[in-house]
Amino acid sequence: MKIGVITSGGDCPGMNAFILELSKLCSKANYDLIGYIGGYKGIEENNFIKLNFDCISGMALGKKGGSLLLTGRYEDLKNDEKLIEFKKKIDEIGIDWLIVLGGDGSLKAAKKLSDLGLKLVGVPATIDNNVIGTEYTIGFDTAINRTLQVINDIEDTATAMYGKIYIIETLGGDCGNIAKAAIDEGTADIALIPENPISDDELIKLVKEKFDKGNKYLIIIICEGLKKTIYYSEFLKKTLNKKVHVTIIGHQQRGGNPTAYDRYVAKQFAKKAFELIDKDISGKMVCCVSGTFSNCDLK
Ligand code: F6P
Repeated sequence: MKIGVITSGGDCPGMNAFILELSKLCSKANYDLIGYIGGYKGIEENNFIKLNFDCISGMALGKKGGSLLLTGRYEDLKNDEKLIEFKKKIDEIGIDWLIVLGGDGSLKAAKKLSDLGLKLVGVPATIDNNVIGTEYTIGFDTAINRTLQVINDIEDTATAMYGKIYIIETLGGDCGNIAKAAIDEGTADIALIPENPISDDELIKLVKEKFDKGNKYLIIIICEGLKKTIYYSEFLKKTLNKKVHVTIIGHQQRGGNPTAYDRYVAKQFAKKAFELIDKDISGKMVCCVSGTFSNCDLK
């Protein structure tokens, strides 16, 4: 049996832990595992390497962020002709199964490849945690922890020199899950996210209420997708006559060592993906529902 794997879209911490576990399982079963380089582009260019567990097991891969296989955003994923071409190329080199790790766009293309008759399993992997069908995607926990670390650090100075407003911008695209987690964990005072837009007047009211209730400083977490970080900073400065500081976390949230939880989920997803292949069940995505690892239809 020959299995191919790609990491597609934005990389996330935990992709390497998945590859390591998958290669271990393939090695035990005596299956060939090949990794395409740079996501879907690797398929287009027939650019791949053989993943040999004996070779990669000594690389401490599980603890590394990024992706050994590199990743990329392929512009033309909605082009059906391209996907037909990909399927042909994959068939030509005798790959029996393809495993696709990535976010929404990467998995939608995977679904189309599966509809074209390619045996395929999808694996939700994005720091944004916004893939329908699973309550968790690899990388989210690491991104939240990085965000909380930044907030914690800022709070040290915020408590020492109080009276100010801190605006912290998170990654997440148009999805506010990372910012929302900072509120759920009790580290931020206000979250501004695309899913729940508020007016300028409402924001001012909220901020004033917080200070009136005794807040010595204010942490506002804002999702990048709103594209209003600088606007809000200027607006609050002008309207409230307070010092406002902006921190944009950016890609630091997407890099670095995966947390123990992301390594754990990556391993469980690898086991589930392998199980599906062994049972010859195609067109599925491994997922986590009510805390249990299982699979659902690719959508
Ligand atoms: O992979 C998801 C993500 O990290 C989003 O949170 C972010 O908006 C986007 O990717 C950034 O993408 P890129 O690195 O391609 O600019």
